[in-house]
Amino acid sequence: MTTNAHASGRRAVKAVIPAAGLATRFLPATKAVPKELLPVVDRPVLQYIVEEAAAAGITDVLLVTGRGKTSMVDHFDRRPDVEARLEEKGDTERLAAVRRTSELADIYTCRQGEPLGLGHAVGVAASHVGDSAFAVLLGDEFVDEEEPLLPSMLDLQARTGGIVLAFLEVEPSETSRYGIASVSPSEYGDDVVQVTGLVEKPSPAEAPSNLAVLGRYVLPPTIFEAINHTKPGSGGEIQLTDAMAALLNDGTPVHGIIYRGHRYDTGMPLGYLQAVVQLAVKRPDLGAEFHAWLTEFVGNPKG
Ligand code: G1P
Repeated sequence: MTTNAHASGRRAVKAVIPAAGLATRFLPATKAVPKELLPVVDRPVLQYIVEEAAAAGITDVLLVTGRGKTSMVDHFDRRPDVEARLEEKGDTERLAAVRRTSELADIYTCRQGEPLGLGHAVGVAASHVGDSAFAVLLGDEFVDEEEPLLPSMLDLQARTGGIVLAFLEVEPSETSRYGIASVSPSEYGDDVVQVTGLVEKPSPAEAPSNLAVLGRYVLPPTIFEAINHTKPGSGGEIQLTDAMAALLNDGTPVHGIIYRGHRYDTGMPLGYLQAVVQLAVKRPDLGAEFHAWLTEFVGNPKG
């Protein structure tokens, strides 16, 4: 198989998590609590995302934060007082769980002064990222840990040197919620497509396919220059999709992996509730009991 001339052959080791948004879809819960810290069973959403990055070998994670959202960074800090109390009580299981959050990756932070769009949020990461490829993980969605996606995206990007996306097949009526791609077959196997066009949130009539961009990207550093030249697009925001489309037009190879595993979307109340229930049922410690209760509840919902 061919390897692109721009390919480094090395996997990206840095990730950027844009997390400065106002989370209006989840108000009033998100007035004072960042949506990234809403708990799914007993861990905040953001921890699942950092765990996904760490499991893929990412060691350096930049959180792009905004006003009122610095508590996200605290979650990944040490808590010597809490750790000492757990140690005294001999609660080794919780102690390990608390320590683990500060050992997952090196967490850095920078600010996006104004929420001007996803492309703008990625743009503020430029000086931290430098001149290497990097991953972007959106802060309100994650994939099942048993069906990882990022490792194959990072491997593919190391070979192509271009942009690597991941796609979900969505209902035609849902295209206006996502970036949508037009594609052709690729030389990298059946589940990898070559992207020939990208459009942000098209109406079903305008959508070139039903392949929706999932919130995981591996990008070359040339994206920063493209973002600088990107004008506000859909919703009046500086869109990452538009910056990627500009690189595509200039000849950057763009590929997408069609993801067939389970994606949890916690950005809206319905998806959030589904994630909580699905992950609670899977838990070895409380899954059986919760499932039994849920079955009874569903049979007799007023109970
Ligand atoms: C963003 C992107 C969109 C992508 C989506 C995935 O939209 O702009 O291209 O398909 O994430 O969740 P948002 O959900 O921030 O409106």
